[in-house]
Amino acid sequence: MIHHIFVVTFLVSLLHLHIKADSQVRHVPTQPPPDSRPVFTYAICNNIQRPHFTESIQLKVIPHLYLIDYMEIACKTASDRFTKFSATYYPSVPGYFIDSINGLAGNWADNKTYWRLLNNNSSTSVGASDLDPKPGDNVVFMFTKAG
Ligand SMILES: *[C@@H]1O[C@H](CO)[C@@H](O)[C@H](O)[C@H]1NC(C)=O
Ligand SMILES: *[C@@H]1O[C@H](CO)[C@@H](O)[C@H](O)[C@H]1NC(C)=O
Ligand SMILES: *[C@@H]1O[C@H](CO)[C@@H](O)[C@H](O)[C@H]1NC(C)=O
Repeated sequence: MIHHIFVVTFLVSLLHLHIKADSQVRHVPTQPPPDSRPVFTYAICNNIQRPHFTESIQLKVIPHLYLIDYMEIACKTASDRFTKFSATYYPSVPGYFIDSINGLAGNWADNKTYWRLLNNNSSTSVGASDLDPKPGDNVVFMFTKAG
């Protein structure tokens, strides 16, 4: 019994030492704080058709994921702001074309509106199922009227 109490006390003091050592390590500048994980910004923006909306979220970059996967993550983790999206697969491209975001669909036939994909304010050469965002990227789906 006494032996057990001793062991527990010993372990608790070891743990205490460990926590102390750990909190000192955290102040060493070479140790990155937990919130400096590599992230990119994903945003959706509609300024041309009422109701206007802009939403943005920072997402952790995960190897082997494409933008369309992050769009699903945004809908799961911030479902109040990123409610849904729909896409059509075109085997000839091949890839997904984004038809609608948060219930707003492009209408090419009536007024040439579509969801335009930008990274760092420039048009991307690939679509949502081929764009693999890198840390620091600023990826935006901008509701746009062509012409
Ligand atoms: C485009 O046409 C649709 C269908 O007529 C309409 O609901 C929408 O408001 C129009 N959008 C713009 C930007 O003109
Ligand atoms: C994109 O352009 C806006 C102004 O139009 C600017 O404020 C912003 O810094 C730019 N972002 C990037 C990532 O280039
Ligand atoms: C976008 O801008 C960020 C910050 O300047 C940079 O780290 C990143 O490499 C850029 N991405 C592209 C695709 O240009």
